[in-house]
Amino acid sequence: MIVLGIETSCDETGIAVYDTTAWETGRPASDGVLGQALHSQIAMHRDYGGVVPELASRDHIRRVLPLLDEALAQAKTPLQAIDAVAYTQGPGLAGALLVGTAFGRSLALALNKPSIGVHHLEGHLLSPLLGESAPEFPFIALLVSGGHTQLMQVEGIGKYQLLGETVDDAAGEAFDKTAKLLGLDYPGGAAVSLLAESGAPGRFELPKPMLHSGDLDFSFSGLKTAVLNQVNRFAPKDSAETGQFHADLARAFVDSLVTVLVEKSAKAIAQTGSRHLVLAGGVGANKQLRAALNQRAQIDGFTVHYPPLHLCTDNGVMIAFAGALRLLAGHRDEPTPAFDVKPRWDLTAA
Ligand code: KG4
Ligand code: ZN
Repeated sequence: MIVLGIETSCDETGIAVYDTTAWETGRPASDGVLGQALHSQIAMHRDYGGVVPELASRDHIRRVLPLLDEALAQAKTPLQAIDAVAYTQGPGLAGALLVGTAFGRSLALALNKPSIGVHHLEGHLLSPLLGESAPEFPFIALLVSGGHTQLMQVEGIGKYQLLGETVDDAAGEAFDKTAKLLGLDYPGGAAVSLLAESGAPGRFELPKPMLHSGDLDFSFSGLKTAVLNQVNRFAPKDSAETGQFHADLARAFVDSLVTVLVEKSAKAIAQTGSRHLVLAGGVGANKQLRAALNQRAQIDGFTVHYPPLHLCTDNGVMIAFAGALRLLAGHRDEPTPAFDVKPRWDLTAA
Protein backbone atom coordinates (compact mmCIF):
# COMPACT_ATOMS: atom_id res chain seq x y z
CA MET A 1 0.00 0.00 0.00
CA ILE A 2 1.33 3.43 -0.95
CA VAL A 3 0.37 6.15 1.54
CA LEU A 4 0.63 9.88 1.03
CA GLY A 5 1.36 11.83 4.25
CA ILE A 6 0.50 15.50 4.78
CA GLU A 7 1.71 17.59 7.74
CA THR A 8 0.51 21.18 8.25
CA SER A 9 -0.11 21.44 12.01
CA CYS A 10 2.23 24.35 12.73
CA ASP A 11 5.01 26.03 10.76
CA GLU A 12 6.26 23.23 8.52
CA THR A 13 4.54 21.97 5.40
CA GLY A 14 5.59 18.35 4.88
CA ILE A 15 4.51 15.85 2.22
CA ALA A 16 5.80 12.29 1.92
CA VAL A 17 5.14 9.02 0.12
CA TYR A 18 5.46 5.79 2.13
CA ASP A 19 5.28 2.23 0.77
CA THR A 20 4.20 -0.26 3.47
CA THR A 21 5.85 -3.25 1.72
CA ALA A 22 9.05 -2.68 3.72
CA TRP A 23 7.17 -2.79 7.02
CA GLU A 24 5.04 -5.79 6.01
CA THR A 25 8.02 -7.86 4.88
CA GLY A 26 10.19 -7.15 7.93
CA ARG A 27 12.68 -4.90 6.13
CA PRO A 28 13.86 -1.70 7.87
CA ALA A 29 10.85 0.63 8.06
CA SER A 30 12.93 3.45 6.57
CA ASP A 31 13.14 1.51 3.26
CA GLY A 32 9.48 2.39 2.74
CA VAL A 33 10.15 6.12 2.47
CA LEU A 34 9.88 6.74 -1.28
CA GLY A 35 9.77 10.52 -1.34
CA GLN A 36 9.67 13.49 1.01
CA ALA A 37 9.38 17.23 0.59
CA LEU A 38 9.44 19.86 3.31
CA HIS A 39 9.12 23.61 3.60
CA SER A 40 9.88 25.35 6.88
CA GLN A 41 8.24 28.73 7.55
CA ILE A 42 10.76 29.62 10.26
CA ALA A 43 12.30 32.49 8.26
CA MET A 44 8.84 33.98 7.67
CA HIS A 45 7.86 33.94 11.37
CA ARG A 46 11.26 35.01 12.71
CA ASP A 47 10.56 38.76 12.48
CA TYR A 48 7.57 38.28 14.80
CA GLY A 49 9.48 36.20 17.38
CA GLY A 50 7.05 33.27 17.04
CA VAL A 51 4.50 31.60 14.78
CA VAL A 52 1.76 33.90 13.41
CA PRO A 53 -1.18 31.51 12.84
CA GLU A 54 -2.80 33.41 9.97
CA LEU A 55 0.49 33.65 8.07
CA ALA A 56 1.11 29.96 8.72
CA SER A 57 -2.24 28.90 7.20
CA ARG A 58 -1.77 31.06 4.11
CA ASP A 59 1.71 29.73 3.53
CA HIS A 60 0.55 26.10 3.85
CA ILE A 61 -1.99 26.84 1.09
CA ARG A 62 0.79 28.16 -1.15
CA ARG A 63 3.11 25.19 -0.50
CA VAL A 64 1.02 22.01 -0.50
CA LEU A 65 0.66 21.54 -4.27
CA PRO A 66 4.29 22.22 -5.25
CA LEU A 67 5.49 20.00 -2.38
CA LEU A 68 3.10 17.24 -3.46
CA ASP A 69 4.59 17.38 -6.97
CA GLU A 70 8.10 17.30 -5.50
CA ALA A 71 7.43 14.30 -3.23
CA LEU A 72 5.69 12.33 -6.00
CA ALA A 73 8.51 13.07 -8.46
CA GLN A 74 11.11 11.94 -5.91
CA ALA A 75 9.08 8.78 -5.27
CA LYS A 76 8.67 8.22 -9.03
CA THR A 77 5.05 7.57 -8.19
CA PRO A 78 2.08 9.00 -10.14
CA LEU A 79 -0.78 10.44 -8.10
CA GLN A 80 -3.07 7.62 -9.31
CA ALA A 81 -0.80 5.04 -7.61
CA ILE A 82 -1.56 6.47 -4.14
CA ASP A 83 -3.66 3.94 -2.17
CA ALA A 84 -4.51 6.13 0.84
CA VAL A 85 -4.02 9.64 2.22
CA ALA A 86 -2.90 10.37 5.80
CA TYR A 87 -3.01 13.93 7.14
CA THR A 88 -2.41 15.58 10.51
CA GLN A 89 -5.86 16.19 12.00
CA GLY A 90 -4.57 17.60 15.31
CA PRO A 91 -3.35 18.85 17.68
CA GLY A 92 -2.05 22.15 16.34
CA LEU A 93 -3.17 25.51 14.95
CA ALA A 94 -6.79 25.22 13.76
CA GLY A 95 -6.29 27.17 10.53
CA ALA A 96 -3.08 25.35 9.66
CA LEU A 97 -4.67 21.95 10.36
CA LEU A 98 -7.63 22.90 8.16
CA VAL A 99 -5.35 23.35 5.14
CA GLY A 100 -3.82 19.86 5.32
CA THR A 101 -7.10 18.23 6.35
CA ALA A 102 -9.18 19.83 3.57
CA PHE A 103 -6.45 19.06 1.07
CA GLY A 104 -5.99 15.45 2.20
CA ARG A 105 -9.70 14.69 2.42
CA SER A 106 -10.46 16.23 -1.00
CA LEU A 107 -7.59 14.40 -2.63
CA ALA A 108 -8.72 11.07 -1.18
CA LEU A 109 -12.28 11.77 -2.31
CA ALA A 110 -11.13 12.66 -5.83
CA LEU A 111 -8.97 9.53 -6.04
CA ASN A 112 -11.72 7.43 -4.47
CA LYS A 113 -9.25 6.15 -1.87
CA PRO A 114 -9.47 5.95 1.93
CA SER A 115 -8.04 8.65 4.17
CA ILE A 116 -6.99 8.77 7.80
CA GLY A 117 -6.61 11.64 10.25
CA VAL A 118 -3.36 11.24 12.19
CA HIS A 119 -2.52 12.55 15.68
CA HIS A 120 0.60 14.71 15.30
CA LEU A 121 2.21 13.28 18.45
CA GLU A 122 1.62 9.73 17.26
CA GLY A 123 3.69 10.72 14.22
CA HIS A 124 6.53 11.88 16.49
CA LEU A 125 6.14 8.90 18.80
CA LEU A 126 6.43 6.26 16.06
CA SER A 127 9.20 8.05 14.13
CA PRO A 128 12.03 6.22 16.00
CA LEU A 129 10.78 3.06 14.24
CA LEU A 130 12.23 4.72 11.11
CA GLY A 131 15.64 5.03 12.78
CA GLU A 132 18.69 2.81 12.55
CA SER A 133 18.04 0.88 15.74
CA ALA A 134 14.26 0.59 15.79
CA PRO A 135 12.72 -0.23 19.18
CA GLU A 136 10.34 -3.11 19.78
CA PHE A 137 7.02 -2.69 21.58
CA PRO A 138 6.44 -2.11 24.44
CA PHE A 139 8.48 1.02 25.13
CA ILE A 140 8.41 4.31 27.02
CA ALA A 141 8.34 7.45 24.89
CA LEU A 142 9.65 10.82 25.98
CA LEU A 143 7.87 13.31 23.71
CA VAL A 144 9.54 16.71 23.81
CA SER A 145 8.37 19.26 21.26
CA GLY A 146 7.54 22.94 21.03
CA GLY A 147 4.01 22.32 22.30
CA HIS A 148 4.23 19.12 24.37
CA THR A 149 6.30 17.35 27.00
CA GLN A 150 4.97 13.94 27.90
CA LEU A 151 6.08 10.53 29.09
CA MET A 152 3.99 7.87 27.43
CA GLN A 153 3.80 4.10 27.84
CA VAL A 154 3.45 2.52 24.40
CA GLU A 155 2.15 -1.05 24.19
CA GLY A 156 1.55 -1.02 20.44
CA ILE A 157 0.00 1.05 17.64
CA GLY A 158 -2.82 3.08 19.22
CA LYS A 159 -2.15 1.70 22.70
CA TYR A 160 -0.85 4.68 24.65
CA GLN A 161 -0.99 5.50 28.33
CA LEU A 162 0.02 8.90 29.66
CA LEU A 163 2.47 8.61 32.58
CA GLY A 164 3.23 12.29 33.07
CA GLU A 165 3.31 15.66 31.31
CA THR A 166 4.23 19.28 31.78
CA VAL A 167 1.92 21.32 33.96
CA ASP A 168 2.91 24.55 32.17
CA ASP A 169 5.51 25.23 29.43
CA ALA A 170 6.74 22.51 27.08
CA ALA A 171 10.47 21.78 26.92
CA GLY A 172 10.74 23.30 23.42
CA GLU A 173 8.80 26.35 24.57
CA ALA A 174 11.27 26.79 27.47
CA PHE A 175 14.14 26.55 24.96
CA ASP A 176 12.51 29.12 22.67
CA LYS A 177 11.73 31.58 25.49
CA THR A 178 15.24 31.21 26.92
CA ALA A 179 16.66 31.81 23.45
CA LYS A 180 14.82 35.12 23.29
CA LEU A 181 16.23 36.13 26.70
CA LEU A 182 19.73 35.32 25.44
CA GLY A 183 19.26 37.40 22.30
CA LEU A 184 18.84 34.45 19.92
CA ASP A 185 16.35 34.16 17.05
CA TYR A 186 13.15 32.09 17.05
CA PRO A 187 12.96 29.08 17.34
CA GLY A 188 16.06 29.04 19.49
CA GLY A 189 16.34 25.43 20.68
CA ALA A 190 19.25 24.44 18.47
CA ALA A 191 20.97 27.82 19.00
CA VAL A 192 20.73 27.60 22.82
CA SER A 193 22.15 24.09 22.62
CA LEU A 194 25.09 25.28 20.52
CA LEU A 195 25.73 28.28 22.78
CA ALA A 196 25.66 26.03 25.87
CA GLU A 197 28.55 24.03 24.42
CA SER A 198 30.87 27.00 25.00
CA GLY A 199 29.40 27.74 28.44
CA ALA A 200 31.18 27.00 31.72
CA PRO A 201 29.36 24.55 33.98
CA GLY A 202 28.45 25.68 37.49
CA ARG A 203 28.71 29.47 37.08
CA PHE A 204 24.93 29.69 37.46
CA GLU A 205 22.80 27.33 39.51
CA LEU A 206 19.27 27.19 38.09
CA PRO A 207 16.34 25.27 39.59
CA LYS A 208 15.56 21.73 38.45
CA PRO A 209 11.76 22.00 38.64
CA MET A 210 9.81 19.04 40.03
CA LEU A 211 12.91 16.85 40.10
CA HIS A 212 11.78 15.38 43.40
CA SER A 213 8.01 15.72 42.94
CA GLY A 214 7.58 11.97 43.20
CA ASP A 215 5.52 11.80 40.00
CA LEU A 216 6.36 11.91 36.30
CA ASP A 217 5.11 15.44 35.63
CA PHE A 218 7.25 18.39 34.52
CA SER A 219 7.22 22.16 34.90
CA PHE A 220 9.47 24.47 32.89
CA SER A 221 8.00 27.95 33.17
CA GLY A 222 9.88 28.65 36.44
CA LEU A 223 13.15 27.65 34.81
CA LYS A 224 12.66 30.25 32.09
CA THR A 225 11.79 32.85 34.76
CA ALA A 226 14.98 31.91 36.63
CA VAL A 227 16.95 32.66 33.44
CA LEU A 228 15.15 36.02 33.19
CA ASN A 229 16.06 36.84 36.80
CA GLN A 230 19.75 36.09 36.17
CA VAL A 231 19.69 38.30 33.06
CA ASN A 232 18.05 41.14 35.02
CA ARG A 233 20.46 40.87 37.94
CA PHE A 234 23.79 39.95 36.42
CA ALA A 235 23.86 40.98 32.72
CA PRO A 236 27.34 42.51 32.28
CA LYS A 237 27.64 46.25 31.58
CA ASP A 238 30.68 45.55 29.43
CA SER A 239 29.43 44.17 26.09
CA ALA A 240 32.69 42.22 25.67
CA GLU A 241 31.53 39.96 28.52
CA THR A 242 27.99 39.45 27.23
CA GLY A 243 28.84 36.51 24.96
CA GLN A 244 30.35 34.41 27.76
CA PHE A 245 27.58 35.45 30.18
CA HIS A 246 24.95 34.20 27.74
CA ALA A 247 26.90 31.00 27.05
CA ASP A 248 27.28 30.21 30.79
CA LEU A 249 23.59 30.88 31.36
CA ALA A 250 22.65 28.71 28.37
CA ARG A 251 24.82 25.95 29.84
CA ALA A 252 23.05 26.18 33.22
CA PHE A 253 19.63 26.15 31.52
CA VAL A 254 20.45 23.10 29.40
CA ASP A 255 22.00 21.27 32.38
CA SER A 256 18.88 21.82 34.50
CA LEU A 257 16.39 20.91 31.81
CA VAL A 258 18.33 17.82 30.70
CA THR A 259 18.76 16.62 34.29
CA VAL A 260 15.00 16.73 34.85
CA LEU A 261 14.14 15.03 31.54
CA VAL A 262 16.69 12.25 32.11
CA GLU A 263 15.73 11.68 35.74
CA LYS A 264 12.01 11.42 34.99
CA SER A 265 12.60 9.16 31.98
CA ALA A 266 14.73 6.82 34.11
CA LYS A 267 12.01 6.86 36.76
CA ALA A 268 9.37 5.95 34.15
CA ILE A 269 11.54 3.05 33.00
CA ALA A 270 12.06 1.84 36.57
CA GLN A 271 8.39 2.24 37.47
CA THR A 272 7.03 0.34 34.46
CA GLY A 273 9.78 -2.27 34.17
CA SER A 274 10.18 -1.34 30.49
CA ARG A 275 13.65 -1.78 28.95
CA HIS A 276 13.36 0.61 26.03
CA LEU A 277 13.09 4.38 25.84
CA VAL A 278 12.19 6.32 22.72
CA LEU A 279 13.01 10.01 22.33
CA ALA A 280 10.82 11.99 19.95
CA GLY A 281 9.84 15.55 19.02
CA GLY A 282 11.89 18.61 18.07
CA VAL A 283 13.86 18.73 21.35
CA GLY A 284 14.82 15.11 20.63
CA ALA A 285 17.41 16.60 18.26
CA ASN A 286 19.20 18.06 21.28
CA LYS A 287 22.79 16.84 21.59
CA GLN A 288 23.14 17.26 25.36
CA LEU A 289 19.89 15.41 26.02
CA ARG A 290 20.91 12.53 23.75
CA ALA A 291 24.33 12.24 25.41
CA ALA A 292 22.88 12.30 28.93
CA LEU A 293 20.18 9.75 28.09
CA ASN A 294 22.75 7.41 26.52
CA GLN A 295 24.91 7.66 29.62
CA ARG A 296 22.00 6.99 31.98
CA ALA A 297 20.79 4.09 29.81
CA GLN A 298 24.18 2.40 30.15
CA ILE A 299 24.13 2.75 33.92
CA ASP A 300 20.52 1.64 34.36
CA GLY A 301 20.58 -1.00 31.63
CA PHE A 302 17.94 0.21 29.19
CA THR A 303 18.20 1.09 25.50
CA VAL A 304 17.46 4.48 23.91
CA HIS A 305 16.08 4.87 20.39
CA TYR A 306 15.99 8.00 18.28
CA PRO A 307 14.38 9.02 15.03
CA PRO A 308 16.83 10.02 12.30
CA LEU A 309 17.85 13.64 13.02
CA HIS A 310 15.95 15.10 10.06
CA LEU A 311 12.74 13.44 11.31
CA CYS A 312 12.93 14.95 14.83
CA THR A 313 11.20 18.18 13.89
CA ASP A 314 7.87 18.26 12.03
CA ASN A 315 7.78 16.45 8.69
CA GLY A 316 5.46 14.55 6.34
CA VAL A 317 7.26 11.21 6.64
CA MET A 318 6.17 10.59 10.24
CA ILE A 319 2.55 11.33 9.30
CA ALA A 320 2.65 9.03 6.25
CA PHE A 321 4.23 6.31 8.42
CA ALA A 322 1.88 6.62 11.42
CA GLY A 323 -1.09 6.79 9.03
CA ALA A 324 0.17 3.69 7.20
CA LEU A 325 0.42 1.68 10.44
CA ARG A 326 -3.08 2.80 11.45
CA LEU A 327 -4.46 1.87 8.01
CA LEU A 328 -2.79 -1.56 8.22
CA ALA A 329 -4.51 -2.00 11.60
CA GLY A 330 -7.85 -1.35 9.91
CA HIS A 331 -8.43 2.28 10.88
CA ARG A 332 -9.72 4.87 8.37
CA ASP A 333 -11.96 7.95 8.16
CA GLU A 334 -15.70 7.53 7.84
CA PRO A 335 -16.45 7.61 4.09
CA THR A 336 -18.32 10.92 4.24
CA PRO A 337 -17.26 14.26 2.72
CA ALA A 338 -17.70 15.96 6.13
CA PHE A 339 -14.52 16.58 8.11
CA ASP A 340 -13.21 18.39 11.15
CA VAL A 341 -9.89 19.20 12.79
CA LYS A 342 -8.86 18.68 16.40
CA PRO A 343 -6.66 21.57 17.58
CA ARG A 344 -6.73 19.95 21.04
CA TRP A 345 -6.65 16.18 21.00
CA ASP A 346 -5.71 13.71 23.71
CA LEU A 347 -3.42 11.04 22.21
CA THR A 348 -4.68 8.35 24.57
CA ALA A 349 -8.16 8.91 23.05
CA ALA A 350 -6.96 8.84 19.43
O1 KG4 B 1 8.40 18.83 17.13
P1 KG4 B 1 8.62 20.22 16.67
O2 KG4 B 1 9.21 20.45 15.32
O3 KG4 B 1 7.30 21.06 16.69
C1 KG4 B 1 6.26 20.82 17.54
O4 KG4 B 1 5.51 19.84 17.30
O5 KG4 B 1 6.16 21.61 18.51
O6 KG4 B 1 9.53 20.91 17.79
C2 KG4 B 1 9.98 22.22 17.68
C3 KG4 B 1 10.74 22.57 18.94
C4 KG4 B 1 11.11 24.04 19.03
O7 KG4 B 1 10.76 24.51 20.32
C5 KG4 B 1 12.63 24.03 18.85
O8 KG4 B 1 13.29 25.09 19.50
C6 KG4 B 1 13.00 22.69 19.43
O9 KG4 B 1 11.97 21.82 19.01
N1 KG4 B 1 14.31 22.20 18.97
C7 KG4 B 1 15.37 22.01 19.78
C8 KG4 B 1 16.43 21.55 18.95
N2 KG4 B 1 15.98 21.50 17.67
C9 KG4 B 1 14.68 21.88 17.70
N3 KG4 B 1 15.50 22.17 21.10
C10 KG4 B 1 16.69 21.89 21.65
N4 KG4 B 1 17.77 21.47 20.95
C11 KG4 B 1 17.69 21.29 19.60
N5 KG4 B 1 18.76 20.86 18.92
ZN1 ZN C 1 5.83 18.36 16.23
